[in-house]
Parts: sequence; C-alpha cells; structure tokens
Amino acid sequence: MPKPIYLDYNATTPHDPEVIAAMRPFLEEAFGNPSSSHFYGNAPQKAVADARSQVAELLGSRPEEIVFTSGGTESNNHALKGVAEAYADKGNHIITSRIEHPAILEVCQYLEKNGVAVTYVSVDDRGMVSAYEVEKAVTARTVLISIMHANNEVGTIQPLADIARIAKAKDILLHTDAAQSVGKIPTRVEELGVDLLSVAGHKIYAPKGVGALFIRNGIRLPRFMQGAGQESGRRPGTENVLEIVGLGKACEIAARDLEQNMTHMQHMRDRLYEGIRKKCVRIRVNGHPQHRLPNTLSISFEGLEANRILERIASRVAASAGAACHSDRIDVSGVLKAMAVPLSWAKGTLRLTTGRMTTEADIDHAIGVISQAVESLND
Ligand SMILES: Cc1ncc(COP(=O)(O)O)c(C=O)c1O
Repeated sequence: MPKPIYLDYNATTPHDPEVIAAMRPFLEEAFGNPSSSHFYGNAPQKAVADARSQVAELLGSRPEEIVFTSGGTESNNHALKGVAEAYADKGNHIITSRIEHPAILEVCQYLEKNGVAVTYVSVDDRGMVSAYEVEKAVTARTVLISIMHANNEVGTIQPLADIARIAKAKDILLHTDAAQSVGKIPTRVEELGVDLLSVAGHKIYAPKGVGALFIRNGIRLPRFMQGAGQESGRRPGTENVLEIVGLGKACEIAARDLEQNMTHMQHMRDRLYEGIRKKCVRIRVNGHPQHRLPNTLSISFEGLEANRILERIASRVAASAGAACHSDRIDVSGVLKAMAVPLSWAKGTLRLTTGRMTTEADIDHAIGVISQAVESLND
C-alpha cells in the first residue's frame, strides 16, 4: 500500500537528505562535548559555531544574536516571559493578536495571571492584523508587541515592517513568531524590523525539538534557566549538537534555495486549488489572496464537516482540519473564528499545505481523492 500523500507541511516537514547527511557524523562518531577543550570537543564546538552562523546568515543577523532552543514553543516562551521580566520596571503591557499560535496565546494567558496586561488585537476577514489597531493599543506601559510573521492555518503574512515603525517610534520591543515563515518567504530581521524572532527547526526540514531565538544585540533578557555557561550563559545545558547541526544545515539550504522553493510550493498549491475549484462547488479560500504563504491553502467546503472529509481521504491524503465536529458541539479554530468565517463554511475547512517534496503527480492524485470525497459527502 502506498503511503498517503503528505499535504501537511505546516504541521511538520520530512528531514532533508542534506540535513541527514550533515547530522550523520554527529550521530555516529563525533560524540564529544562542545565544551571539552581536548580533541573530542573540537569538531562539535566548531559545528555548533558553524550552525549559529548558518542561522544568522538566513536571518541576516549576527551569529552572537542567535540562541539555540528546543523549538518554536521555547523560543516564544522565552521572548515573552523574558521581556516581561527584564522590562518590568518600564511597563507591564504586551500587545499580540487573536490569531497567534497557542505557543504565544497560552504564554500571554500565563503572564496575565502574573500581573501583565495583554491586548489581543483582532484581524480582518482575511486574517490580517492592522498596524493602525496595534498603534491604538499602545499605552505608556507597553513593553512588547508580539505579532506572528505568517499564520499557520491560513498563511496570511502580517505587515511587520509597518508594525516595526510604530514599535520603534514608541521605543517598544517587537517579537515575531516566524515558525511558519522561515524557509517559505524572506525572513531578514532588518527588513522586518524585529528585535526578537522565533524559529522552529521541524518546519524547515530539520528535526523536531530544535529551534532558535534571535535576540537583537543590546536586549538583555534573563537567562533561560540556571546552569553552566553554554550559549554565552544564556541557555545553559550541554548543546543538542546533532540537531543544532541539522538546523544549521536546514537554514543554509533555506537561504540557498529560497526563490526556487517558493516558486515550487506556490505552483503546487495553486495547481491543487485550481484542480479542486474545477471539480467542487461551494468552496472558499481563507486567508489573504496575495499576502499569503506560498504553500498554504485553507479551503472551506460549505455545509460539510472537515473531519468527515479527512476520514474519507485518510488512506490516500494526509491533511489537517480547521474545525472538529463532535456529537454535541463544533470546535472551530480560534483563527477562523477571529476571521469571522461563517460556521457553515468554517466547519468544513481543510488546511492543505505543500512543500519541497510535493510533486505534480501528488497534487493531481490528491485533487481526485479530495474532490471525490467532497462530492460523495455532498450527495
Ligand atoms: C506559528 C507557530 N508557532 C509555534 C509553533 C510551535 O513550534 P514547535 O513545535 O517547534 O514548538 C508552531 C508549530 O506548529 C507554529 O506553527
């Protein structure tokens, strides 16, 4: 039995063969501790330094502005909690959006219980945050604005450069959760105007459990945890050398092949949409028509239940739902709710996301499978 076609690249990505090759020596031979000053420490130490440069190169930052973490969640936690703690004397107000990932929203809720005020700005029906709304939310106590670069469900890309101008003018720090945008669109910290940026390795063909946080020079956050002096004392603990090497390689590839990957993913995504559009009635696309990740198709089938579509296609296509229907209730995703997608559409929403490994044959097959399932449920 062939495996289902993978159309869930926003959930995670397979390992790039070049990433596997780069990691292999650190799995098989180079086991030393990067802090050891003898022979065995040399290769791991150099590998961690090289990886830091590779991440910095992709983001257009300095290597010393990169701290390795366990992934997007940890990077986000540290950015928000770190700023709240370090800048408490300046203020206790954070601005974020209603469509952030739980790795931001849950942190905000935690901070709210600990004396921090949070404003959750709304989005329009295309999932776009308005820089004007952000500006209106600023108070004399605002220390941080955290707005995701691109949304994981609908792919809308936020106007970060505009928000950065506001943040800068008002001397407020700007963080972005770039877990979904890194490797899919340009993510240069100077162009975005951000002070902190979170990266998740497993969204860019590196392993799960590794990530990075860009912390602009001059921003003094507390230590992640207490321990020895690794990561310039900021995040102690013997480095996850194997996966850091994988993340570094993945960033090198992302920078090298960005244009080509963007074109490919978008071609696959648009082919998928065109194919479904020709065969299915009563569909709509969620997210911004232009300012959207090139790989993301959030598509709603009116009157259907996403879970029932996914059940029908499960052995042939792997994708995600934008809503879960239970016997007594329908859980629509917070993102679709914030975008005010009507319930009859929202409950039938699939997130189909393409990637580097997606082929035209995959897409053509998936179109047939999805449209057949939709047709049969519409009958
Ligand atoms: C936008 C966004 N932020 C953060 C995360 C969490 O990243 P990680 O799984 O590396 O902790 C994800 C993963 O789904 C994401 O899509």
